[in-house]
Amino acid sequence: MKGIILAGGAGSRLYPMTRVMTKQLQSVYDKPLIYYPLSILMLGGIKDILLITTPDDQPLFKKLLGDGSQFGIHLTYKIQEKPNGLPEAFVLGEDFIGDDHVCLILGDNLFYGDLDFFRKAIESQKNKENSLHGRVFAYYVADPSAYGVVEFDKETKKVKSIEEKPAKPKSNYAVPGLYLFDNTVAKRAKSLKPSPRGETEIVDLILSYHHEDKLGVEMMYRGLAWLDTGTPRSLLDAAAFIGAIEERQGLKVACLEEVAYRMKFINLEQLQQITASLPKCSYRSYLEKIISEEL
Ligand code: G1P
Repeated sequence: MKGIILAGGAGSRLYPMTRVMTKQLQSVYDKPLIYYPLSILMLGGIKDILLITTPDDQPLFKKLLGDGSQFGIHLTYKIQEKPNGLPEAFVLGEDFIGDDHVCLILGDNLFYGDLDFFRKAIESQKNKENSLHGRVFAYYVADPSAYGVVEFDKETKKVKSIEEKPAKPKSNYAVPGLYLFDNTVAKRAKSLKPSPRGETEIVDLILSYHHEDKLGVEMMYRGLAWLDTGTPRSLLDAAAFIGAIEERQGLKVACLEEVAYRMKFINLEQLQQITASLPKCSYRSYLEKIISEEL
């Protein structure tokens, strides 16, 4: 299973914050936004990850994350010249995906909670024999009109429709920015036509699986948090949410060094080395505490 993080886009709804600094590098409480989706892929056991950014932002992401070896992962980079739509991630990533399955996560999506649903989805996706070829999730939100919206048949519970940002949503179930596809995805993405807003749409890609009866839509239950960070208000809400959890527990969300250690991508010695190289700060003290608990 390969992973792709799409971190392109202009972040225009966050202007002027995004005039200089891209959305996915803005802070969510105590770390850059990109840490959160990256941690989700790592927690799913995905080590081979492609990060797609705008040309201007690529050097910044490289400065922050490098080749990923400090987290025991392998990060590669690609440029998306223009925001031509989410499905372009699979066209740009075609060689990277190769013969594997792929998980795409959007660089501005933040998930928190027991990730069992995700691990299970990855496991059954890996098991190619009885796998569906495309898998997306459904999460109940108050206002789904800013998202892909999935409607289920009341009796059969089967997918009835999926629409992108409908003015009149047919349900409250939004499709979060976390998708699992087989390796036909690049071919499918290439055949999509741009929508009236001039971009190809992820919903059309999802529908191409659905029309062939190869799509699974899995519920993300309500105990999970899915937050999005597209507006100043939602960015503030996400930061407040993470801050509240972290201060209450004294445990960090999406601390990549910790995730790498707990996933056994790096060992204790490597964690100690990385920690020793960090400036004196609460992030370092946190890692020092984890190390002392392990000794
Ligand atoms: C995109 C997708 C949408 C999805 C959303 C999740 O929208 O087009 O289907 O529900 O991500 O964050 P965007 O937020 O890029 O406008």
